[in-house]
Amino acid sequence: MVDNISWHKGKIDKKAREEKLKQKGMVIWFTGLSGSGKSTIAVEVEKLLFQKGRTVYRLDGDNIRYGLNKDLGFSPEDRTENIRRIGEVAALFADAGLITLVSFISPYKKGREHAKKAAGEDNFKEVYVKADVETCARRDPKGLYEKVQRGEIDNFTGISAPYEEPENPDLIIDTKKLTIEQSAQKVIEMINKELVD
Ligand code: ADX
Repeated sequence: MVDNISWHKGKIDKKAREEKLKQKGMVIWFTGLSGSGKSTIAVEVEKLLFQKGRTVYRLDGDNIRYGLNKDLGFSPEDRTENIRRIGEVAALFADAGLITLVSFISPYKKGREHAKKAAGEDNFKEVYVKADVETCARRDPKGLYEKVQRGEIDNFTGISAPYEEPENPDLIIDTKKLTIEQSAQKVIEMINKELVD
């Protein structure tokens, strides 16, 4: 698939961009069920880092599906392609020196592993935003679980489509026990350990 193509190396590398931005480019990958709190926590983390002067950007499942990935649905193949693309995009952002917050269900272990490989292991942290399906259904922030109950959505993660739990995440956020602020704080602590001022 990559026949007749050669990598064109630039004169500015990740290290140079990181020196300019005074931070480490990295991917913080939030995974979990719909309604677990991934996006809410990522939004809070983004705000707090930005206020501290960090260069940060958020890639969100719902938002990306409006544009770049509007051609994709929720079949296993489409989800795999969704995560493959976003893993590559996130790796580019990290290479540009940004702290990149990614919140997609990303239900397959293989897809998350691909994303980690794309960014480079040292630049990637997996955050499991944990909430069981009953809790997510009770919260139902977008009214989707109710729609599933009414038989209006197929292939719904955690109900009629699989979610493969991370086996060895860098951080587990138990959203039943922690507030949004506390959850965000835990993520920031993890990021701060990676940042060299
Ligand atoms: S992923 O599985 O491919 O990683 P992604 O994070 O992009 O999913 O999109 C998930 C969001 O799409 C959910 O938060 C929800 O708002 C919406 N959605 C619509 N249909 C489904 C479905 N069948 N399963 C899960 N989420 C769905």
